[in-house]
Amino acid sequence: AGHDFIPPTSSDIRSPCPALNTLANHGYIPRSGVDITFRQIMDGAKEAYNADWSSILTAVKLGLLSGDDLNSADKINLGALRLHNLIEHDASLSRQDLGDGKGDNVRFSEERFSATIANKNPGVDFYNVSSAGEAMRDALAHSIATNPLVVNTPKELVVRHGESAFYLSVLGDPITGVAPKKFVNVFFREERLPIAEGWKKPSTLITTTTLRALGAKIGRFSESKPSQKCGPFVSGP
Ligand code: HEM
Ligand code: MG
Repeated sequence: AGHDFIPPTSSDIRSPCPALNTLANHGYIPRSGVDITFRQIMDGAKEAYNADWSSILTAVKLGLLSGDDLNSADKINLGALRLHNLIEHDASLSRQDLGDGKGDNVRFSEERFSATIANKNPGVDFYNVSSAGEAMRDALAHSIATNPLVVNTPKELVVRHGESAFYLSVLGDPITGVAPKKFVNVFFREERLPIAEGWKKPSTLITTTTLRALGAKIGRFSESKPSQKCGPFVSGP
């Protein structure tokens, strides 16, 4: 109940994450996009996507570092997640780079999406680990060619492989990584759960273990190598 798709109003805040935006558009987390609790995100991810706490724990912790408003320091604000180089990174699949001259690293970009995910696996109706890897490869090549400020360290590579594993898992199968194109396309383009198109949340629980296994398979096709080093980064005890 209360989980109908309602597009954001002009005062609702959204993020560079298609999955959090979708949770908000369906009321699994506050539709306003502000002052979201740790627990609301954990419960929403489980209920909507069958993703367990382990699969998003680090992301939520990092998300809490994004804001600087003392009154909501223990809450997630979808708008704050745009903070470049904390979680938000270059070479996204569906957003432009902050440094590529257009300066919008938050809103969905059909231009990016159709040049990365959407033109893969021609002639078949599913995406998989090879198409996901090729999409990552093309996104990174585009960023390196067009963004003089591109950041591509081991940290971005880990995050990006995790995100690609995550959309194949949520819209498809967390073990095989096969996901119907029509589900993935609706999810990115409309930030809507493709229930009307026949999608059901995965019956296999999504965990860090399933995501890492899928991410490693995607990595065989992404041809992504770090072009810069990163220093040690501590995100918890
Ligand atoms: C980006 C999926 C949870 C923060 C992404 C992307 C995917 C994704 C596929 C890549 C978008 C692109 O490349 O264009 C998911 C899924 C989640 C989830 C399925 C399960 C609930 C979270 C959480 C946070 C978060 C809990 C933080 C609180 C972000 C941010 C980005 C992002 C900041 C932007 C990265 C970028 O592309 O520059 N997510 N995410 N996500 N996600 Fe999530
Ligand atoms: Mg980005």
